[in-house]
Amino acid sequence: MTQFTIVKDADLPKGIHSDIALPNADLGHLWDSIILASEIKERLVSQAILNFTIRPKVSRSVLPLHGVLLLVGPPGTGKTSLAKGLANRIAELLKGQKMRLLQVDPHALTSSAMGKTQRAVSELFSQTIAEAAALGPTIVLLDEVETLAADRAKLSMDANPVDVHRATDAVLVQLDTLAERFPNLLFVATSNFPQAVDAAFTSRCDLVLQIPLPDADACRKILADCLSGLAGTFPNIGKLSSMPEFGACATACEGLDGRTIRKVVVSALAQRKETALNPNLVSTDDIVAAATQAKMNRKSGGL
Ligand SMILES: Nc1ncnc2c1ncn2[C@@H]1O[C@H](COP(=O)(O)OP(=O)(O)OP(=O)(O)O)[C@@H](O)[C@H]1O
Ligand SMILES: [Mg+2]
Repeated sequence: MTQFTIVKDADLPKGIHSDIALPNADLGHLWDSIILASEIKERLVSQAILNFTIRPKVSRSVLPLHGVLLLVGPPGTGKTSLAKGLANRIAELLKGQKMRLLQVDPHALTSSAMGKTQRAVSELFSQTIAEAAALGPTIVLLDEVETLAADRAKLSMDANPVDVHRATDAVLVQLDTLAERFPNLLFVATSNFPQAVDAAFTSRCDLVLQIPLPDADACRKILADCLSGLAGTFPNIGKLSSMPEFGACATACEGLDGRTIRKVVVSALAQRKETALNPNLVSTDDIVAAATQAKMNRKSGGL
């Protein structure tokens, strides 16, 4: 039976955004909703599984695994959704183990007060995460990891407080300590700015996976999925994806990320007052127009 326990924010330690018991059906839907080449999903799942099958059994002097995966790619390509969905997939595959997903909120840890960020980061890893890992297999989502493990080589001592520098040091020290103590711990990190992540952090990653923009086939499927989701409420929208003109809609979305493609559908409904009042009236021309605008906005740096 699927457990569904999300601990409320108010009860969570500092720096933890959510604490979810796995498996979790919502996270399963999230994984399925990301349309991506099956090899990429398979690679991700295999590396994560290996973390739990190999690390408890093989010495770190043989395989220096840290239990850290990093997903990098443009904004809106599904990195955070994949990371959360992956946690659920792993729990499903390693059945019988009580697993948890902790989601770190990096912004709750940073502070302009001297020494505070470093202390908060150290406490989060050495206490909160260590305590969770001591209870059982734990997956920790480090979203926007460049905030926590900023590239020290690029930090200017004038513009950035020494504290940020030390926070990166603290993350690295803690990753080493936790990797040694808890083979049942897996970090899944994401970043839009891999060039802003410290090289020593990237070097500790067991896998750095590029999440690409959707290809032509994925664009078509994302658009069709979004339309079929709306068709439950507005049945005419469901007919659009079987029309001959649908190909032009999908082509117009090529080059956009998955988040923007889903938003194209919303802006297609907002192309005209009539469609806003009655979404059943939306046409393939509205979708092409909305996708073309989204691409122009991107080119001019608007969105
Ligand atoms: N490949 C995809 N297939 C289907 N939907 C996608 C895809 N990529 C993104 N999306 C949609 O875009 C939304 C945003 O995804 P998500 O937040 O996981 O992206 P992200 O890469 O973490 O973005 P950011 O880098 O801005 O944090 C999701 O809700 C999802 O519906
Ligand atoms: Mg994200």
